[in-house]
Amino acid sequence: MSVTLGIDIGGSGIKGAPVDTLTGQLVGERRRIPTPEGAAPADVKAVVAELVRGFGLPGPVGVTFPGIVQRGRTLSAANVHKDWIGLDADTLLSEAVGQEVHLLNDADAAGLAEARFGAGAGQDGTVMVLTFGTGIGSALIHNGVLVPNTELGHLWLRDKHAETWASDRARERDDLNWKQWSKRACSYLQHLELLFSPELFIIGGGISKKADKWTPHLTLDRSRVVPAQLLNEAGIIGAAMQAALLAPPVQSSRAAAKKA
Ligand code: BGC
Repeated sequence: MSVTLGIDIGGSGIKGAPVDTLTGQLVGERRRIPTPEGAAPADVKAVVAELVRGFGLPGPVGVTFPGIVQRGRTLSAANVHKDWIGLDADTLLSEAVGQEVHLLNDADAAGLAEARFGAGAGQDGTVMVLTFGTGIGSALIHNGVLVPNTELGHLWLRDKHAETWASDRARERDDLNWKQWSKRACSYLQHLELLFSPELFIIGGGISKKADKWTPHLTLDRSRVVPAQLLNEAGIIGAAMQAALLAPPVQSSRAAAKKA
């Protein structure tokens, strides 16, 4: 077993759990603290530090972020406080928690987890994971390897960012029924199919819990479209996977001796 802590910063809650990154299973209780109003860096930092302290699990910590993350810096903030833009967030959070922290984009985390342990398990070639919520997040994975920060929710479509028109928030805002929303999501997916030809689209985010409402309406010519399987655990699992990859947890001396 190789256990790493994963933390998922979401719009309403910051959730964490210890994850066995070899199996993708949560191996301890999942804890959640409401996201502080406005999600400013200092407030989010305090919540992450409280969660990490509570788990008492040494080693690297993976944390998701709903924006671009490049080399530990948060570079966009479509749905969180603008003070995140340009911040060296890996360093900020590592200092706050006293352990090595690695951030990655929330959809990238969900994508890594779904592709390896969820709806994409066993699928080779190109897999595209899309999370429909407040915005639209995207993850592009080829033979298990992630191309980070694709940000395809911001693809320019019909004179706007696709997410302002086809996200779950847009569905609620425009009071669309599932068939009407699926029509929008379908034309967005058709465009992505043309650009990337994925073997498989995995549809995640809040709407994956209501898959029976939209699966009949969301089909494409070439790519298969399936609902995500890991639901709201995908971010936690993917964050832990990434942290374990970047900074493998120290093996117990017994395990190391066995290996040698
Ligand atoms: C952000 C992405 C994020 C997605 C889902 C978009 O607005 O730009 O980085 O993955 O929302 O949270």
